Amino acid sequence: MQALIVNEHGPLEKISLGAFPDPQPGKGEVLVDVHAASVNFPDLLVIGGTYQHLPPRPFVPGKDLAGVVAAVGDGVTRVRPGERVIAQVEHGAFAERCVVREALCFAMPEKMSFAEGAAMGLVYLTAHYALLERGQFRAGETVLVTGAAGGVGLACVQLAKALGAIVVAAVSSAEKAQVARENGADHVMRTDVADLRDSFRKQVLDAVGKRGVDLVLDSVGGDVFDACLRVMAWCGRLVIIGFAAGRIPEVKVGYLLVKNISLIGLQSSDYRERTPEKVREVQAHLFALYSEGRIRPHLMAVYPLKDSLAALRTVQQRKVLGKVVITIR
Ligand SMILES: NC(=O)c1ccc[n+]([C@@H]2O[C@H](COP(=O)([O-])OP(=O)(O)OC[C@H]3O[C@@H](n4cnc5c(N)ncnc54)[C@H](OP(=O)(O)O)[C@@H]3O)[C@@H](O)[C@H]2O)c1
Repeated sequence: MQALIVNEHGPLEKISLGAFPDPQPGKGEVLVDVHAASVNFPDLLVIGGTYQHLPPRPFVPGKDLAGVVAAVGDGVTRVRPGERVIAQVEHGAFAERCVVREALCFAMPEKMSFAEGAAMGLVYLTAHYALLERGQFRAGETVLVTGAAGGVGLACVQLAKALGAIVVAAVSSAEKAQVARENGADHVMRTDVADLRDSFRKQVLDAVGKRGVDLVLDSVGGDVFDACLRVMAWCGRLVIIGFAAGRIPEVKVGYLLVKNISLIGLQSSDYRERTPEKVREVQAHLFALYSEGRIRPHLMAVYPLKDSLAALRTVQQRKVLGKVVITIR
């Protein structure tokens, strides 16, 4: 089969398009003819060799796919050949075929396209876990989302808005501000400012009032995380999703003590391993919200497999608005 292949970790330019052995489904596994796959920031870390889980080389990257079930292994009961599904994998989505665990393979709503399906996996699951499971969001609360025009960020904006939040989006450009607004942000803060520390505090408190925000969903880290800590309400919670800015923040914990602030970690892939039944529940909720027209992935661009490098570069260069998708067939 045709696939995007990583022979050695390194810069994106080292990946190649070529023939790769067809995967075979084992017990409890499903073989999917992949139609579309979406790019996630962690793909860059996997390709570069700095991610926490790295497969042996050579391997096919890609974590999110949508396609049609081609065959099933022994013991598979929930999906059938011919069914349209989305699935999440640790790697292997940027290829014509991929083997996935039945537990992480979900029949798609009828009106959802393959491109939308591929874009509705990891980032929406992560946003759901961040907002509800880890963030313990309650309707009416103020939720600040950083990197709000990115994949995880825009999913957080849409989901928080759909579930009754006052949404505050933090972004680094006018174009990203517009996308955040169009997807449900009530207030938009700019992070591309001189003196982020003080300017961000003023922007946020001017918008939501002196009390500050109840919940922060942060996928950026670095200086943006530091600025967020200064705008939290008493008993506020901050969910740590990622460090797209590159710096893992360090916290003076005295600050948490004096304001009763909770810092909460999230690694959504752990739920896949530890509580697959919970993943099914969350995915069903996301599909229901999609079918009701309350959330919908924002597809910035769709590239054919041969132009995968351009798709990956859009994310690497911090240009992505929502999601970029690679069509495989
Ligand atoms: N915890 C989990 O389970 C989990 C799951 C999925 C992803 N993640 C992590 O969440 C983060 C976001 O992932 P994503 O797929 O949403 O990424 P994305 O679509 O590329 O969005 C990342 C956002 O971060 C901001 N950013 C700030 N500095 C950046 C830089 N130097 N390079 C790129 N972006 C930068 C950008 O917003 P502005 O330009 O507006 O600042 C961008 O929109 C990543 O760190 C990823 O590893 C974690």
